[in-house]
Amino acid sequence: MTEVHAVTTRMQRESGILYHFRDHLPLTDRTPMLSLHEGGTPLVHAPRLAAWVGVPELYLKYEGLNPTGSFKDRGMVLAVARAVEDGARAVLCASTGNTAASAAAYAAHAGIRSIVLLPAGRVAAGKLAQAVIYGADVVTVDGSFDHALALALNASRKFDLALVNSVNPARIEGQTTAAYEICDALGDAPPVLALPVGNGGNITAYWLGFRRALEHGRATRLPRILGVQAEGAAPFVHGAPVEHPDTVATAIRIGRPATWEPAIRAAQDSGGAFRAVSDEAILEAYRAIAAHEGIFCEPASAASVAGLRAAVRAGAIDAAQQCVCILTGSGLKDPDTAVANVEIGAPIDMNDVEYIGRLI
Ligand code: F0G
Repeated sequence: MTEVHAVTTRMQRESGILYHFRDHLPLTDRTPMLSLHEGGTPLVHAPRLAAWVGVPELYLKYEGLNPTGSFKDRGMVLAVARAVEDGARAVLCASTGNTAASAAAYAAHAGIRSIVLLPAGRVAAGKLAQAVIYGADVVTVDGSFDHALALALNASRKFDLALVNSVNPARIEGQTTAAYEICDALGDAPPVLALPVGNGGNITAYWLGFRRALEHGRATRLPRILGVQAEGAAPFVHGAPVEHPDTVATAIRIGRPATWEPAIRAAQDSGGAFRAVSDEAILEAYRAIAAHEGIFCEPASAASVAGLRAAVRAGAIDAAQQCVCILTGSGLKDPDTAVANVEIGAPIDMNDVEYIGRLI
């Protein structure tokens, strides 16, 4: 019994990104080594989807397998740990859903409170369920994510609360770890990397992570980064804020990104670009990823694949290259979008074996 206990204690202590990337993250002697076993997500080889996209080699970094089902856990574990270290009793964030779920989980794990501000009516069911059950104070705001973020910034200053949105540098630092993992898995950085862009934090973190990987000899080159937005919420593509952002990909329904310059530099300096894709193209990719590879991601995540396919078709990128798409969140976050257009037939008779035969 004690032996089992010792092994599980060690497994817990030596898990998660704070432990695995301790030499690369801003930790101090007093930083609590929180972990819900985040990071270490699979890079899945996706040959059938590659053919659909039109590239020779495609990998999917499936961030939906993080503990709360999105990439946010990488940055959140560090942001919450640093907040605890600084004596915070509560963390605060605005969110389209995933940041809220992650903040609520890590705050619960650390034994502090979380307050999450969500745009009313536009948060996927799974994300709302997570925030509620992890015990966050859930506040809905009569406005978009952009309004909720402005309120969160204001409240964090006024009441000296630890803001854990991606304007918090710890969030970006923690999220750099995904770039290291990709380099380690492939033996180098991929020539092309596509990811969905909303508030601009993650593209900034990947670019920083790949540049550090190059410095540390984990990679010999840098990827071109393709940042993909939904047509109805594409401020980086237009080069200006969008007043009324709208898209089926609610995670990236953002018109006024908080991280602007560094996100633009990530696309420009890497020799990449921003690209907008329609909601139809996002949903087509969403179904294709699941049907061709058996991976269920949320709609925002599928924007990466839709954007890469559109870029290949437009001749905007050299198609003869190895590509990585980041699938930022799990499809289980948003079951309503998956079943929205499906008709399930009436129940069949329990003895109707011939019905099954007619399906084949
Ligand atoms: N994909 C998913 C699933 C997301 O939840 C987000 C952002 C992004 C991509 C875009 O990343 O904002 O760093 O450019 N979600 C935030 C949230 C806004 O509140 O959960 P970004």
